[in-house]
Amino acid sequence: MQIGFFDSGIGGITVLYDTLNFLPNEDYLYYADTLNAPYGHKTKDDVKKLVLNAIEFISQQKVKAIVIACNTATSAAIEEIRAKYSIPIIGMEPAVKPAVKTKKNINKRILVTATAFTLREERLQNHITKLDNEHVVDLLPLPKLVQFAEGFEFSERIVLSYLQEQLSIYDLSKYETIVLGCTHFSYYKDIFGKLFSSDVNIIDGNNGTAKNLKKVLEDMNSLNEGNGNISFYCSGVKVEDKAKLKEFDKLFKRLDAINEM
Ligand code: DGL
Repeated sequence: MQIGFFDSGIGGITVLYDTLNFLPNEDYLYYADTLNAPYGHKTKDDVKKLVLNAIEFISQQKVKAIVIACNTATSAAIEEIRAKYSIPIIGMEPAVKPAVKTKKNINKRILVTATAFTLREERLQNHITKLDNEHVVDLLPLPKLVQFAEGFEFSERIVLSYLQEQLSIYDLSKYETIVLGCTHFSYYKDIFGKLFSSDVNIIDGNNGTAKNLKKVLEDMNSLNEGNGNISFYCSGVKVEDKAKLKEFDKLFKRLDAINEM
């Protein structure tokens, strides 16, 4: 049986990419709700409805687990989804915990970037209140990065200039860790790297999610010996068009390029 991956759009591909390192022999169904992306500026009710619809569709395609490869969707609906389905549902949230736990320099800070939705949701706010005893966590929404990724805009000049503008009021030398708390942002890890000194950690939750998924499947005795096939769906429609499938390939190539650095 295959594993379902869900995101508002193409952000979850960054999680799938890392998962393929840990679980190359699984088969995958990737669902992008491209007709409705981005979710980051929508209301909680709207996001919840969209996510529940998409997960219902995915659950009907013979999947043994679902990864909600989207921090926004997780914060909107993970509890309802877990209550509704008996298969494992793996969610994602900004990697604040590892950032706080591994913090070394007491004078430095942590910058958590995500969608405005994720940043204002109770789930993350409670998490930060529990972990951030020293008040070292700053929050920054970066909505345009989602738009850029959805439009396949990977030009370093354009993205760097947006990030420079958004970060212009921050003293960048103060940061020890930058948390990429939106799966779309991982396409720009290398460009974030150009803004900070080389000892700054730029982290996302992708590897942690992949490891978690592997452990869940091992515990269920449900590992596959498939070929790593991926079928793609956009808002409920299977992608068969060759040109469209090539676009997904481009995203994997973009991630290859970042990882080869
Ligand atoms: N990729 C998503 C996340 O991790 C959401 C992006 C959006 O739809 O605004 O939060």
